[in-house]
Amino acid sequence: MKIAIGNDHTAIEMKEIIKEFVEGKGYEVIDLGTNSTESCDYPVYGEKVGRAVAGGEADLGIAICGTGVGISLAANKVKGIRACVCSEPYTAKLSRMHNNSNVLAFGARVVGSELAKMITEAWLDAEFEGGRHERRVNMIMDIENS
Ligand code: RB5
Repeated sequence: MKIAIGNDHTAIEMKEIIKEFVEGKGYEVIDLGTNSTESCDYPVYGEKVGRAVAGGEADLGIAICGTGVGISLAANKVKGIRACVCSEPYTAKLSRMHNNSNVLAFGARVVGSELAKMITEAWLDAEFEGGRHERRVNMIMDIENS
């Protein structure tokens, strides 16, 4: 299973920690950058993660900026993407189980690395429940086509 990871300059260290953690769990990571500490624009990396997931190059994506907000907004503009900003594991888990999120976002300036690992693990280990949730997720996705 492939996980695309993208981030802005605020999240270089966090990205490396999460990359190692995700690889340690047996996933293949596609690093879409940035790998420079120079100030950059988070929409570029949110879009890259969104396109990698929507295009099938990756199964899921992780997007990290200072708050997780900007990069998730950008990823969500790509058709087919359901990016959720999560600052704790419960929301991360439920975002998969109920909302079938396909991009996890969080803030490198908001959560510490140990909490970020717990969030990532809860998200990766959870599975979409389908059923009534499928109908609701389909309703969300229909908005893209209206
Ligand atoms: C960069 O300063 C910051 O705005 C960005 O990382 C992110 O938090 C935006 O949502």
